[in-house]
Amino acid sequence: MNQLESKVAVITGAGSGIGAATALLFAAQGAKVIVSDINEQACQDVTKQILLAGGQAYAVKTDVSDPLQCEALVAEALKQYNKLDIAVNNAGIGGESNATGDMSIEGWNKVIAINLSSIFYCMKYEIAAMLSQGGCIVNMASILGQVGFANAAGYVAAKHGVIGLTQTAAIEYAARNIRINAVGPGFIETPLLTAAGMDDTMKRQIATLHPIGRLGRPEEVAELILWLSTAKASFVNGAYYPVDGAYLSR
Ligand SMILES: NC(=O)c1ccc[n+]([C@@H]2O[C@H](COP(=O)([O-])OP(=O)(O)OC[C@H]3O[C@@H](n4cnc5c(N)ncnc54)[C@H](O)[C@@H]3O)[C@@H](O)[C@H]2O)c1
Repeated sequence: MNQLESKVAVITGAGSGIGAATALLFAAQGAKVIVSDINEQACQDVTKQILLAGGQAYAVKTDVSDPLQCEALVAEALKQYNKLDIAVNNAGIGGESNATGDMSIEGWNKVIAINLSSIFYCMKYEIAAMLSQGGCIVNMASILGQVGFANAAGYVAAKHGVIGLTQTAAIEYAARNIRINAVGPGFIETPLLTAAGMDDTMKRQIATLHPIGRLGRPEEVAELILWLSTAKASFVNGAYYPVDGAYLSR
């Protein structure tokens, strides 16, 4: 059961949804988890949940669109637990919903900053911390890192970019014992969908795009992230893994 015994993991966007499910699963598997989120109350709440269950966790408020805060996050992990074994770069937003010609410049810049540039910032400092002993990074892409989706130009471009960044960094650091992979969830039932303006009717319509016939659950994504983060995935590197109820197979 303790697949992550003695491992130290940083998880961004861990105050809600997929990040929170991953933090809880990692802690249950023995990891010391740095629970990071821009929402301080949310990361405190998840941290408290882990501690109450007998796990180890430490909350760090971080806005991942700020490179200085990403650097500080990694420094805090090293300060608390002396090393960094695993990083899950998960924080993200749905972003502005408008056709490309109507999307605001601010909306574009915001989603690129939070969903794409953040992955570069985090990896830059995580890799530096991992070089001496090796490590494992899982970046959050999406099915929308592989195909288009109307009214989501910034989100789709960011997630395509996450996959390219993942592949490039994996090539660069494979020989240094750092594995870097990306996961691509289909639509998952989290607050992100509601924040993106989806009501229950829209969610039911979106669910029909998944041949499995429903939306995914955060825990179903967390299980894939866990597997990629263990030695069981020792030859998996530079890969993109969908977890999407066959959305991309249509
Ligand atoms: N829900 C889906 O359908 C779905 C599908 C594919 C990929 N994803 C991706 O999964 C990741 C997690 O999304 P979720 O569905 O769990 O959403 P969520 O809204 O439940 O959680 C996202 C978390 O990220 C945090 N966050 C937002 N901006 C931040 C910032 N600047 N710095 C740090 N933290 C920030 C939020 O506070 C929140 O706690 C995102 O990258 C998202 O794009 C989600």
